[in-house]
Amino acid sequence: RTNSVHEATPESMPLSENALTVLRERYLAKDDEGHIIETVDQLWERVACEIATVETLYGATSEEVASVEEQFHQMLASRTFLPNSPTLMNAGRPGAHKQYSACFVIPIEDDMQSIGNAVTAALLIHKSGGGTGFSFSNLRPKGDRVRSSGGVASGPVSFMKIIDGATEQVRQGGTRRGANMGILHVQHPDILDFVSCKTLDGQIRNFNISVAVTDEFMNAVKEDKPYSLINPRTKHPVKEVFARLVFDRIVEEAWKTGDPGLFFIDRANRACPIPAMGEIVSTNPCGEVPLHGFDACTLGSIDLAKHVRIQPGHGQYEIDWESLDQTIRLAVRFLDNVIDANDHPLPQINAMTRQTRRIGLGIMGYARLLMALGLPYGSEEAIRLTERIAHQMKAMAWRASEQLAKTRGVYPAWKGSKHEQEGRQVRHSYVTTVAPTGSLSMIADTSAGCEPEFALVWFKHVLEGRKLPYLCDLFETTARREGWWHDDLIDRIVANHGSCQGLKEVPAHWQQIFTVAHDLTPEQHVRVQAAWQRFSDTAVSKTINLPSTATVEDVRHAYVLAWELDCSGITVYRDGSRTSQVLNLGKAD
Ligand code: CDP
Repeated sequence: RTNSVHEATPESMPLSENALTVLRERYLAKDDEGHIIETVDQLWERVACEIATVETLYGATSEEVASVEEQFHQMLASRTFLPNSPTLMNAGRPGAHKQYSACFVIPIEDDMQSIGNAVTAALLIHKSGGGTGFSFSNLRPKGDRVRSSGGVASGPVSFMKIIDGATEQVRQGGTRRGANMGILHVQHPDILDFVSCKTLDGQIRNFNISVAVTDEFMNAVKEDKPYSLINPRTKHPVKEVFARLVFDRIVEEAWKTGDPGLFFIDRANRACPIPAMGEIVSTNPCGEVPLHGFDACTLGSIDLAKHVRIQPGHGQYEIDWESLDQTIRLAVRFLDNVIDANDHPLPQINAMTRQTRRIGLGIMGYARLLMALGLPYGSEEAIRLTERIAHQMKAMAWRASEQLAKTRGVYPAWKGSKHEQEGRQVRHSYVTTVAPTGSLSMIADTSAGCEPEFALVWFKHVLEGRKLPYLCDLFETTARREGWWHDDLIDRIVANHGSCQGLKEVPAHWQQIFTVAHDLTPEQHVRVQAAWQRFSDTAVSKTINLPSTATVEDVRHAYVLAWELDCSGITVYRDGSRTSQVLNLGKAD
């Protein structure tokens, strides 16, 4: 018997029906009548060609460009690495926006012009496939004075509704609705309105929301002390409130609906290598990238499950470090090229991205890697190994950035950066992240980001009402090979909330290896996130998925633990807490 769960060489796996459906609906180029006009291989080719062409800017000959193009093509076709959706959708497609990034932050100042500009920016960015984050913390509170009109201000939440309404009307690249992040600083006088803004009037539908909390606030929660609310216009304290009162409301709302999350704003700024560019006050929509205003980040994710090999002599799987290093180097080059290939909808964004040269190299297939290695997700052993993997991968990614800097130079904002102080010649201000890979993982037929498998049997709501059914194929092939598969097993698992824990026909050893999201404690989820945070220069996108029976106290515990373990932020989601959710237990029909 072996612990292994892979049957074929992972990178030669054919595309599944689900992957093909997603590609056909959203990614393959279409003509004006909506007919698909390219094959999947032509998609890889068009993206590889467009991004490889950038090499000419750095003096490459046509043979050198062709060689890089071939390497990019192979990397995409093997799905060992995939760039974020806007790159796959737009790169090299005639008539498409040359906008290849998923993550943006747009600054908002306390005046109408700035709010109007933010709405326009959101519309243009959503249209080209990107998502936008905003901090509303500069806006004066509800009821504050407006000198020009002699009236009173309507406050941050009312301006969020304007952006929300605009978002509702635009589809990203004609396929999906845009995503937004709305952030409010915990010291803003309207903080309680903000915390419940998604439940109270139901008008905010296209935002994830997070509260930017300081270390001082979190300490005040722990010590049950008051803190000051400050009017951002006058900079004067307006009121003292007990931190626990606000924190209680945050965790109650998060328990009810999943919002708000927390954004640990001090940590983001401590970790920022380019403080001269100003304070970071917001993240992108899914939280993995804190960004300066008008900066953007192109993400790309490596499928860890496709970087394993059989240990000679043992028949067990191990990480294939050489191939991982190779993919990392090529992926960093790919993402570096994307910065130059990009033509963003706003000139300020073009200028900023070329100064900071941020890239967001992430991972997917982590849960499947653990299955291949025979380690239960969330176990002590898995977490220790993950810290080692995260550490090593980060070193590899930065080495790739250093190598590029030797031929292409350091990023322009390097002067005055912490990298300069440390004497590190690097090409990028930020390199690594962990993205959700909501769509990419479906295309790559792997598990999403650093998440556990949601369930062994589940379905995903995608593409306007369609349901894509999932059965963990590694589970099925293992069960068949080991001889404990039977036809009722799927129904037994469905009745057991998507889990095989406690099913007597599944051997205990395999029950552990096939641990899924709701089998885990909130603490295990947070500890895995904290381990991946070691890899991430930015933040980590992770949803602490809780069963419907989880309590407000579970949420509170997770939120405090995330701060204590030095995570960049946290998001929870309790099963069934929204009427319509993306990931669902059970069968699709
Ligand atoms: O898998 P894919 O590349 O499509 O995206 P993801 O990894 O799930 O999400 C990465 C980022 O894309 C998010 O953090 C958002 O900034 C953006 N995004 C968006 O704008 N709209 C969506 N519907 C989903 C993601």
